[in-house]
Amino acid sequence: MTLVMTNSPTPTRPYSKAHALDLDARDPLAHFRDAFIIADPDTIYLDGNSLGRLPKRTAARVREVVEREWGERLIRGWGEGWFGAPQRIGAKIARLIGADADEVIVSDSTTVNLFKLVIAALHARMGRSKIITDDLNFPTDAYVLQGAVKLAGANYRLEVVHSPDGLSVTAGAFAQAIDADTALVELSHTAFKSGCVYDMRAITEMAHRAGALMLWDLCHSVGAMPLDLHASDVDLAVGCTYKYLNGGPGAPAFLFVRKDLLVETLHATSLQSPILGWFGQKNQFDMVTEYQPAPGLTRFLAGTPAMLSLAAVEPSVDLILEAGIDRLREKSVRQTEYLIALWEELLEPLGVKLNSPRDANCRGSHVSLGHPEGLRIDRALIEEMRVIPDFRFPDNIRLGIAPLYTSYADIFEGITRLRRVLVERLYEKYPTSRPEVT
Ligand SMILES: Cc1ncc(COP(=O)(O)O)c(C=O)c1O
Repeated sequence: MTLVMTNSPTPTRPYSKAHALDLDARDPLAHFRDAFIIADPDTIYLDGNSLGRLPKRTAARVREVVEREWGERLIRGWGEGWFGAPQRIGAKIARLIGADADEVIVSDSTTVNLFKLVIAALHARMGRSKIITDDLNFPTDAYVLQGAVKLAGANYRLEVVHSPDGLSVTAGAFAQAIDADTALVELSHTAFKSGCVYDMRAITEMAHRAGALMLWDLCHSVGAMPLDLHASDVDLAVGCTYKYLNGGPGAPAFLFVRKDLLVETLHATSLQSPILGWFGQKNQFDMVTEYQPAPGLTRFLAGTPAMLSLAAVEPSVDLILEAGIDRLREKSVRQTEYLIALWEELLEPLGVKLNSPRDANCRGSHVSLGHPEGLRIDRALIEEMRVIPDFRFPDNIRLGIAPLYTSYADIFEGITRLRRVLVERLYEKYPTSRPEVT
C-alpha cells in the first residue's frame, strides 16, 4: 500500500511526522478539531469509536440545561423544549441515516431499544420461529436475542451464523440460513471487533425475499459514514449516540422503524412496543389508565427521557451535520488507509497483524491490530505512552478514527508510540490479568 501523498511543493518523507502535519494542514475538515475540548494535546485519543470527545458547545449546552432550564425554569422546562426532544433530536439523526424525520426517536439504551424492536418484530411475524444473527455481533445484541427467544416460547430458536475468519460472514452463509421460517435477521452493520461493514442492501433484500424483517445495529456506523436506510429498504434499526455522535457517557440511544410498519393494514398488524409506558401513550396527559399506543413512533418511548443526557446529544449531531457526513466518510477512509500504511511499514515487521479488512469499502472507521500481547501493549500505551486505544479479546488493539477531530498527527504518534512499546518491550512489566474495564 502506498501512503496518501499530497501535492505539496516540498514533499515530505512519507513515514515522518512532517508528512502527517502536512496532511493535517491540507485537511479541509481540520478546523472541526477546535470545536472539541482537548485537555492535553499530547494525549493521543484513538477511542472515539467507544466514547466520543466532548464538544465545547455541548459543555455550554449542558450548563445551560442544568443552570437555566432546570435551575430557573424548573418543571416549565417540559413545555419549553424538553418534551419534544426525543423526536426533535431523532429527526436530526434521521438526516445522517437516510430516514424521514418522523422515523427516528431518541430514548433509552441501545439494549433496551433492541429488546423493544426484537419483540415487536416477532409479534409482527407470528408463526415464524427463527431469528438469525452472526457470531461477530456485539454481546448485548446476542443476549437480547437469547432473552427474546426464551420469552417468546419453546418453539423459537436463535441461529448464529459463524464467521470463518473473525472478520466477516459471506452473503452465501446468510442465504443458506435465512428461510421461510425466519422472522427476523439482526446484525451489527459494522462489526465491533474487526470493523468489517456489511452490505446493508444485499442482506436486507435477502431477509425480505424470505418474508423476514431486518434489524440493523448501527452503533459503529452512525456518524462515521453515510447510511441510507430507505434506499436499502431497512425495516428496523437501533444505534447509540456516545460513539461517533459524541453524546457523552451513557447518552440515550435511537431507534428507527420504517413508517409503513406503524400503520395497521388488512394484511399486517402495526408494530407495537412491548414496554407500555406513559410516554408512549396516546394523549399522555389525559392520564387514563387504559393503554392506547401513541400514533407513529412515539409509541416506542417508555418512561421519562433522561433529559440531561438527551440534551447533550443535540449539539454534536448539529456539528456532524455542519461538517457533512459524506465529507467525514471521505476523511475517515483516507485516515484508516494512512493508518494501515503506517502499520505495514512500522508494525507488521514486528509481528502485528491487521485484524480489519484491507478494502476500505468494507471497513468502518476503526482499525483493529492483532498481537498476542495485545492486552499488555494496550496497558503500556495508556499508562506510559499517553495513547488511548481500547482492547477487545482475544488480541485486538482497536484504534478508532473519529474524523471530526482525529488528526493525521494523532495517527502518526499513535502508531510510532505503539512501535516503541514493541521495540523496547515496555509491555512486559504489566500483568497478564485483565483489568475490570478494557
Ligand atoms: C454494536 C453495539 N451494540 C450495542 C451496544 C450497547 O449499547 P448500550 O450500552 O447503549 O445498550 C454497543 C456498545 O458499545 C455496541 O458497540
